[in-house]
Amino acid sequence: MSKLLIAVLLCLAIITPTVLCDDSQQNISVQDLLAYNKWRQKHQRVYLNEDEQLYRQLVFFENLAKINSHASNTEATFTVSLNQFSDYTQEEFKHRILNKKLGQRSTPREAVAEQPHLLGASIATSIDWRTKPNVLNPVKDQGQCGSCWTFGAAGVMESFNAIKNGVLKKFSEQQLVDCVHQAGYVSDGCNGGFQEDGVNYAIKYGIVQSSSYPYTGVGGRCKITSPTSPSVGFYPKSFQKVAQTSSALKAALNLYPVTVSVDASNWSSYSGGIFNNCGPTTDQDLNHAVIAVGYDAQGNWIIRNSWSAYWGENGYIRLAPGNTCGVLLDNLYVTA
Ligand SMILES: *[C@@H]1O[C@H](CO)[C@@H](O)[C@H](O)[C@H]1NC(C)=O
Ligand SMILES: *[C@@H]1O[C@H](CO)[C@@H](O)[C@H](O)[C@H]1NC(C)=O
Repeated sequence: MSKLLIAVLLCLAIITPTVLCDDSQQNISVQDLLAYNKWRQKHQRVYLNEDEQLYRQLVFFENLAKINSHASNTEATFTVSLNQFSDYTQEEFKHRILNKKLGQRSTPREAVAEQPHLLGASIATSIDWRTKPNVLNPVKDQGQCGSCWTFGAAGVMESFNAIKNGVLKKFSEQQLVDCVHQAGYVSDGCNGGFQEDGVNYAIKYGIVQSSSYPYTGVGGRCKITSPTSPSVGFYPKSFQKVAQTSSALKAALNLYPVTVSVDASNWSSYSGGIFNNCGPTTDQDLNHAVIAVGYDAQGNWIIRNSWSAYWGENGYIRLAPGNTCGVLLDNLYVTA
């Protein structure tokens, strides 16, 4: 890294419109520098020292080059852009934002049978829970914490409660971040976890509203020591896992939003369109929990993320039909 830093130092020292960095094979133009300054101001990045700033700048320029090269690919079905992750390397993105536990179950996942009564039911050509009033809260932001699994779990509990009981509440992700591990589950706050643990915990202890247990994005001491009273907390009773087929996920989506696990390694710069840049995904690759809220007539999945409404399509991403990014592998929804 020090060699690269020196290379950048040299680059910045030479004041010419286009600077050639032999070492990093990266040509930084005045436009790039302006783009960086604008981006940095917008995201109010403060760095520890000058070395870190130079390093971040270099990472930003590499990401910018990738974004520009994607823009020149006329076959791409999706767009990418600068966003809050633009000064992270791919490794940092995985480490800080994605879920380190999801792909590492201690026991292999059991196969889930198709639900014959669901497949027999009429399945709409397309469905989009965003268009139904009072089913989904505004898109949330997990911040720099691998807590996506708490957003997946809380989100499907919110939507179930809204559809079943007619009240759209916001449930506390922070309660799940702080309390699930302490209650004896494998899932561990910002270090990653499973949506299933979040729902199982709520079945036992209840989940309170985020107004009384607000999100901080850092793990802390659990403030709920015993099951809350049913008048305070929401208690789901059961959930259903979804068989690993498109028809099973569609059938489930006709009932409720579904929390799904994906490999989001390539999602950092996504800004719109139909995303299809995932290799063949297996159980071990899963590293992010999100919520499927529907599919369109072409079979593209409509996915709600927890990286703020600033990311993607107002906080959402559309995935190409089938098992794109592993979207069929590990899914559940609340049933009672
Ligand atoms: C940088 O500029 C040089 C000279 O203009 C060019 O040969 C080289 O391909 C450029 N490198 C990149 C990575 O664009
Ligand atoms: C990410 O994209 C690259 C191509 O840009 C592809 O080779 C790779 O398989 C993708 N990674 C994942 C985890 O899907």
